[in-house]
Amino acid sequence: MSSKRKEWTARWIRPAEKMGEVCPVFSRTWQQEQAPGSAVLYLTALGVYEAQINGKRVGDYVLAPGWTVYEKRLQYQEYDVTELIREGENEICVTLGKGWFSSRMPGWKSSEDKERRMERDQGILGELILSGKNGENQIIATDQTWKVQEGPVRFSEIYDGESYDASLEPGEKDVPPAKGEVCEFSWPMDTLIPQEGEQIKEMERVGAKKIIRTPAGEWVVDFGQNITGYVEFTLDAHKGDKIRILHGEILDKDGNFYNENYRSAKAEICYICKEGRQTWHPRLTFFGFRYLKLEEFPGEPSADQFTAIAVYSDMKQTGFVRTAHEGINQLFSNVLWGQKGNFLDVPTDCPQRDERLGWTGDAQTFTKAAAYNFDVATFFRKWLRDLAAEQLESGSVPQVIPNYLPECRESAAWGDAATICPWQIYMTYGNVSDLEEQFESMKKWVDFITGSTTTQYLWTGGEHFGDWVGLDAPVGSYRGASREDFIATAFYARSAQLTARAGRVLGKDMSEYEALFEEIRKAFRKAYPEYLTQTEHILAVWFELAEDPQKTADALADMIVRDGTRIMTGFVGTPYILHVLSNYGHTDLAYSLLLREEYPSWLYPVRKGATTIWEHWDGIMEDGSLWSPEMNSFNHYSYGSVADWLYEEAAGIKPVEEAPGFAGARITPKPDKRLGWIDVTLNTRHGQIRSAWKYVDDQVRFEITTPVRSEIVIGDKKETVEPGSYTYWG
Ligand code: BGC
Repeated sequence: MSSKRKEWTARWIRPAEKMGEVCPVFSRTWQQEQAPGSAVLYLTALGVYEAQINGKRVGDYVLAPGWTVYEKRLQYQEYDVTELIREGENEICVTLGKGWFSSRMPGWKSSEDKERRMERDQGILGELILSGKNGENQIIATDQTWKVQEGPVRFSEIYDGESYDASLEPGEKDVPPAKGEVCEFSWPMDTLIPQEGEQIKEMERVGAKKIIRTPAGEWVVDFGQNITGYVEFTLDAHKGDKIRILHGEILDKDGNFYNENYRSAKAEICYICKEGRQTWHPRLTFFGFRYLKLEEFPGEPSADQFTAIAVYSDMKQTGFVRTAHEGINQLFSNVLWGQKGNFLDVPTDCPQRDERLGWTGDAQTFTKAAAYNFDVATFFRKWLRDLAAEQLESGSVPQVIPNYLPECRESAAWGDAATICPWQIYMTYGNVSDLEEQFESMKKWVDFITGSTTTQYLWTGGEHFGDWVGLDAPVGSYRGASREDFIATAFYARSAQLTARAGRVLGKDMSEYEALFEEIRKAFRKAYPEYLTQTEHILAVWFELAEDPQKTADALADMIVRDGTRIMTGFVGTPYILHVLSNYGHTDLAYSLLLREEYPSWLYPVRKGATTIWEHWDGIMEDGSLWSPEMNSFNHYSYGSVADWLYEEAAGIKPVEEAPGFAGARITPKPDKRLGWIDVTLNTRHGQIRSAWKYVDDQVRFEITTPVRSEIVIGDKKETVEPGSYTYWG
């Protein structure tokens, strides 16, 4: 990562005359007497940009400069472009789209804030530093000498898609579009920061599996995998031929194209062909999709013309889970794809409908699984800085980060992302500076609750999402049956406790917050002598609030069995349910829930052909009918939090608080014959841990490799081992 630039000669520029929906192409030409010794381009935008020098793409960053709290933190990118510069005339061109900066986000409501964002000026800022072989410098910086013209991208927006006219590409027109003037404008320069997050890139290519002629007579392309990104197509066509493509995640009951669940997001590609063979994909937007409906397409389409390109933050996979159970393997794949599809610079709820926002609650439920699956240290560091930047003076944490819903109030379990995410990132990677950076924000969140509750030591009052989409929700509600102030108080306790722990790691006196946790616990026990739902039991145990955790876990197990061995939890209870069971002697029941295939369960969507995690346990019902399109995403990672149980309980790989980041480990595998075998590897900051077990007749063979001093627990046997490989029978 480069250090922050102190001085910019560049000025922000935008078209002097508004260009409507067309994406402007800014350009500047210059003469180069000889090729430079080195050339570095610094570039950013209010919007999203793609740059070219002499017709060649600069870098491979997609949707640059990414999504941050632009008013306070705007990333710029640095590119070594030495190879792109030549002797003689050179030209740099930058195409600019609305991106997250001024798209109509969120799609489902209007507000003054949204109007303001949509109307603000987009523009670019950049400078190219050309260093001569003799040490002289030349700077080509954005300023009034640049020109702007209409380019082939006629429209681009996050929800609605992209329109492109290939006949307007350079070289296609006899008379190129006229170049107009730019004007300079101001945007605070002290908001500029070097690239902080992972770069967003084209990470994977998935070829179309087949083309379907649906009962309704539509041409539909099926990629066999729900992804986030865009399609690339190749065809032979005549100039002026039209292509119109819609995106969808599923087919309906009758096998027809369906995307009502995208709500107002048009998710549409319009393309006008040039003559001859051509290959194209959108550049300034993205879609969540498995299927494409070819509304207009010249000739008869064939599968080999279409490739889906998955675009996401460049994270390295660190966790690998394989088992003898095909369904669980598919579930794990769905979790990974859910993460790829929703870790596009910001952890989003979903990538397809008119939402795609950094919902704090969703991120909070999934951070642990996310941090095992991939190295997300850099990804979260950036997003948590944005969270801190958006935190209000009062300490309140907005529902979404960046905050595109400033008129909405905080909610328990959503705002607690401020404490839960940094703590988890610290536990997984062991970097104290992550806690150091977030500590004030953690404390402010807890102080906010203390200052705003209507009952001391409980969290009453306010508006909460409750156990969101819990199955025990009363008819007509999305909020599960668990009491909102119960959930709020439990999370208040949890946040106070994690803040105290973080402070202790940093060597601070945290007695005030430790005492606060104790007081909340006392008040909690008094206010809630009974637990009414699965989620209430789960929180009471997992957040160390129940007076008798064993008894509470037993009661939870009874309740689950009474409920038909079914999970009834929503966003709040689901991440912990299996952990509570297997930590209190009910591993058997945990596996029964994990391996259940009937609705509701994790494997039910798998049985229904899911390739990502669904927002609802019953997004597609048994009879093929669908949940209301008002809220029915098929790529919502929250319930994918179950993956952390596979690492920590099924394979048993856990960090220890005294040696965070897997400087030490506890390995406590919990086998079950129904799963057959499991083989998990986790690449940690201290090397690779492997934990595998397999049933051989009625015995279990365990294989453990650890790069660090570890405590291994197999059944009743416990031992501390040095780095190495170990085999046990149990
Ligand atoms: C989002 C959720 C989010 C919730 C909060 C929904 O629209 O998609 O995932 O957490 O709102 O209410």
